[in-house]
Amino acid sequence: MHLTAVAPIGVFDSGIGGLSVLQALQAELPHERFVYLADSAHAPYGERGDAFVAERTHAIADYLVRQHQIKALVVACNTATAAAIHEARQRYPQMPVVGIEPALKPAVAHSQTQRIGVIGTHGTLGSAKFAQLLASVQGQAEFVIQPCKGLAHAIEGSTTHVPTTAMADTEVYRLCAQYTQAMGRFGTAPGQIDTLVLGCTHYVFAADDLRHILGPDVTLLSTGEPVARQTRRLLEAAHLLAPAPAPAPATANATATDQVRTQLLTSGPLAALQAAAQRWLQLPAEQCAQACALI
Ligand code: DGL
Repeated sequence: MHLTAVAPIGVFDSGIGGLSVLQALQAELPHERFVYLADSAHAPYGERGDAFVAERTHAIADYLVRQHQIKALVVACNTATAAAIHEARQRYPQMPVVGIEPALKPAVAHSQTQRIGVIGTHGTLGSAKFAQLLASVQGQAEFVIQPCKGLAHAIEGSTTHVPTTAMADTEVYRLCAQYTQAMGRFGTAPGQIDTLVLGCTHYVFAADDLRHILGPDVTLLSTGEPVARQTRRLLEAAHLLAPAPAPAPATANATATDQVRTQLLTSGPLAALQAAAQRWLQLPAEQCAQACALI
């Protein structure tokens, strides 16, 4: 396996959630090219077993290495990281492989009430990796852990239709309200949860709903930016950072540059990825394609 600095970075998730990480990667690494794969035909991962998620992770990593000659892999999915990052690193020992995990340590540093909420999938929150992470911050704060069955799926489904109903009437809002109510009181008074860790990359796209439900004083923590910084560090250490391009002609603009450097693929319905890419990354539909060869 020969890695080159000009090769793209592979990024994947069970669906569109990892676009929230891609956004941070694009901002942190402006000279890099990206190939994003949404495994929407097999989403949600969080309610499948570890063996299934590990199998998908390896199939996708192999596909991105073979078809796109990626130089690094970002697993933009907490569930896949928990189930398979270790094996992915063993499978590609020379390639930087970056995973994502719920931001418990930043939450401890941030929280004033020392009462922290964590939402994620069953797969992530029930994993041995999460148990280890939790043990590493034991005694430093109280954690209220809430798996959110169906929420990633509802977010995935919410992209294709332009909201015609009020925010509070959507499935995403209903589930956010139901799960956060089950966690207890949120706020900045003693004994209340003042920090909510979004332990699933999809949930970033429900941030407006969560803010509306929990109010402006509760801090929502996601992990896209630290993952992007870690990706930069690993690429630098491996001498794999893309060189800055020659100065662009006066007519080129930043949007045109963004358009050529990111390719989005899906194993599921193309329209859903196109809608999500347009809505959240302002990327045009032409940059999205079906990843037929994968399945
Ligand atoms: N976006 C994924 C995560 O961060 C999983 C969502 C799902 O497929 O269940 O865990």
